[in-house]
Amino acid sequence: MTTLVLNPYQNYEQSLSRANKVNWHIEDIIGGNKRLDFTKRFMPEVLARVNEIQCLNEAEKLLLNQIRGNSYLHLFGLVEEFIVPCVIDHVKTTGLSDITATQALLHFAEEESKHIRLFRRFAEEFEIGFGTRCDGIGPISDITHAVLEHHPLGVVLIILYIEWMTQYHYLASIRDNSTESLDPQFCSLLRNHWLEEAQHTTLDTLMVERLVQQLDQAEIDAGVEDFFKLIEFLNGGLMAQVQLDSESLSRAIGRTLTETERQEIQAVQEKSYHWTFIGSGITHSHFVETFKQVSPAQYSRLMSVAEAYC
Ligand SMILES: [Fe+2]
Ligand SMILES: [Fe+2]
Repeated sequence: MTTLVLNPYQNYEQSLSRANKVNWHIEDIIGGNKRLDFTKRFMPEVLARVNEIQCLNEAEKLLLNQIRGNSYLHLFGLVEEFIVPCVIDHVKTTGLSDITATQALLHFAEEESKHIRLFRRFAEEFEIGFGTRCDGIGPISDITHAVLEHHPLGVVLIILYIEWMTQYHYLASIRDNSTESLDPQFCSLLRNHWLEEAQHTTLDTLMVERLVQQLDQAEIDAGVEDFFKLIEFLNGGLMAQVQLDSESLSRAIGRTLTETERQEIQAVQEKSYHWTFIGSGITHSHFVETFKQVSPAQYSRLMSVAEAYC
């Protein structure tokens, strides 16, 4: 049986204590006089990658960047919808003997439920202010059911890379970003999400550890295999979102994109989605460290898969 070696600080009690200190409310972040500023970009360039698209002028790049912001809300709302039932299922296995673990995991699920409401609230603000329709992939319930049909170890590994990816999204592109003047509310969204996700990385690592301890090698191999299948599945969804973004852009700028323009936008945006939603997570050093402990034999495969998303 594979044994993970966790940092001694990574425990339920500390996660719960840190979570209780953060614990923000949605109305502190959006609503009232806290409105989205549609004169500004929402997403940092490193995550939205619109600058290099030659066929768009500055005003059109601003709109595409904001469309990417809306898609970010949609996609994160979507992933949170499979994280919540996954964590709740896991809580059922912990029992009540370790009540601190149970409370920490229930708080984890509660926070992710709050995040779903936060992303939906931002999406409402976006819809009011943007002016034209922007679609997201779905139906969300079909996608989340399809994800949850995979091996639980595959699902928690996917969730773990997403949690680490959220850390990267804020730390690498917002906190020390002095070169871009982004919408303050969107920066606040990413910052506040990051603050609570920091605890989730610990809790999800503990979920991986508990699951692995209960599995024999064949089951671990099956779980890791499903992790790779899920990467492909999620990528299919992301590539569909690229198409929808292109249609949203066409509506927003009031003209049909030529085939050449569409191809140029699609090529750049596919690379952007690959890095933002897969590559930046599965290459995160902490995710790689855990993955290597779960399945040393599949480490080189992870690195080879990652090349396609970086
Ligand atoms: Fe979240
Ligand atoms: Fe999370």
